[in-house]
Amino acid sequence: MSGANNSTGFDTLCIHGGHKAENNRAHLTPIYATSTYTFDSAEQGIAVFKGEEQGYIYGRFGSPTTNEVEEKIALLEAYGLQDGAGNPLQLKAILHASGMAAITTMLLANLQAGDTIITHHSLYGGTQEMIDKILPNIGIRVTIVDFHDTASVEAAIKADKSIRLMYIETPANPTLQCVDMQALAAIGKANGLIVCADNTFATPYLQQPFKYDVDFVMHSTTKFLNGHGTAIGGILVGRDLEKMKTTVTKTHRLLGGNSNSFEAFLLNNGLRTFALRMERHCSNAEKVAQFLEQHPAVTKVNYLGLSSHPDHAIAMRQMKHAGAMLSFELKGGFDAGTRFINKLKLCISAVSLGTCDTLISHPASTTHFGVKKEDRERFGITDGLIRMSVGIENVEDIINDLKQALN
Ligand SMILES: Cc1ncc(COP(=O)(O)O)c(C=O)c1O
Repeated sequence: MSGANNSTGFDTLCIHGGHKAENNRAHLTPIYATSTYTFDSAEQGIAVFKGEEQGYIYGRFGSPTTNEVEEKIALLEAYGLQDGAGNPLQLKAILHASGMAAITTMLLANLQAGDTIITHHSLYGGTQEMIDKILPNIGIRVTIVDFHDTASVEAAIKADKSIRLMYIETPANPTLQCVDMQALAAIGKANGLIVCADNTFATPYLQQPFKYDVDFVMHSTTKFLNGHGTAIGGILVGRDLEKMKTTVTKTHRLLGGNSNSFEAFLLNNGLRTFALRMERHCSNAEKVAQFLEQHPAVTKVNYLGLSSHPDHAIAMRQMKHAGAMLSFELKGGFDAGTRFINKLKLCISAVSLGTCDTLISHPASTTHFGVKKEDRERFGITDGLIRMSVGIENVEDIINDLKQALN
């Protein structure tokens, strides 16, 4: 059994959290490549099925490999936090096949026909589409409000009794807009809503939504948590342990959006260096943002660490650092964007984020190519906008690559 627990340091938890010694004394928890598990007797099978005895049943329900990473991420999200009685906060996490699968489980475990979600603009595109195109088919509607305007949020909740869940994503993609989680969660909880937050961009290294009493946190683990771009994955973390063990577990198992041991192993291995990577991601991003802000080909830099960002103050209040994501606008619009991408030599042109290597994308020609110009510009996605997930290379090399591509 690992000695890591809530009082162990965050970096140590990244390495040891959730680990249990294994029968054959393997150093790392192996990849359990088995679809099912055996029982000693009919009675033991009954006890495991009833939940009276800890045990594994079937791969879709989980394995020792997925379980370790679930416990580790729950410990990271709860790190240093306390419950209402002053005890270390206990959370339960369930690993999924993708961030979208984790979000879907959360939504379907909590909502039913007739319910409404209250959320804000600039959610991750997949989440937005799920809310706009899939949920209405099963009678779940959405109300979109500017979450910077907390008075309007409260008024909208009070005016519509069908609002049941508040969905927060901060910072948001790709303009890094931040909303005040403490204020929003307080309004949500005071009005009896389920409050959830997508913590993918910030990660528990930078921000812990459970500090503000939210009920659920979701991640695309595909990003900084894995860190190496080796596996798609998602995690759903909840504070109501009973609900997590019953309704949420049932929804997860029946929707079939489970992860698997191989990808859980890759995620767990990536997490071992998570804290160290984040430190470098963040310090590199700060230097890259400062460089870009001075460059004559760049008209605007969206980085939460710069005082020019409209949400700088909120971000500095709820995040430990401004993080590793930034975006910037090129003077020459769409053509300058594609020219810049074509000239990169070190930084990688790809969507996704949070890998060791620096990933750069031009939303107008890729992720938002099909979105009308006036629609995307309303959310700050201009023709010349470039999004950057700053990696952990030597920062001079990243800056030199940008320099030669910008000139
Ligand atoms: C903020 C955010 N949430 C959720 C997702 C969905 O995650 P996945 O692609 O792992 O399904 C993404 C993917 O980019 C994301 O950026």
